[in-house]
Amino acid sequence: MPISDSQLATLKQAAIDASRNAWCPYSNFPVGAAVLAVDGRIFSGCNIENASHGLTICAERNAIGQAIAAGCRDFEALLIFTATPKPTAPCGACRQVIIEFAPDIDVISLCEASDEIRVSIRELLPHNFGPHSLNGTNELN
Ligand code: THU
Repeated sequence: MPISDSQLATLKQAAIDASRNAWCPYSNFPVGAAVLAVDGRIFSGCNIENASHGLTICAERNAIGQAIAAGCRDFEALLIFTATPKPTAPCGACRQVIIEFAPDIDVISLCEASDEIRVSIRELLPHNFGPHSLNGTNELN
């Protein structure tokens, strides 16, 4: 079910606020993400870079980590905000983490302009690797 306009506005503001806290001195590419749980709670995250560049963690994974640590595992939507002219889709690693916890989630990418990307995680990651791969059936989850 699509989220309401007011949920979208709240989610967007949470992602914007998180993006302002991004630690990204190497890329100068701040990202904010916010995830809406089915119980209405919102968890947010920003990208956190490191001088050892490979240790960087994306905003989406940090937002999901916040939710999981709070005991929340059922999600409705994830929103990504970048202060760019075009919206930013989640990277491959984040798609894999998103689908682990939220195989039916809608992913919304917003930016400074009115352009947006709105797709399901299944569209972003078709034929995904998941629990179904480990049990040998390879049936999609
Ligand atoms: N980044 C994210 O936070 N999410 C993504 O889905 C793509 C990339 C971050 C990682 C890094 O800090 C910066 O954007 C540039 O790659």
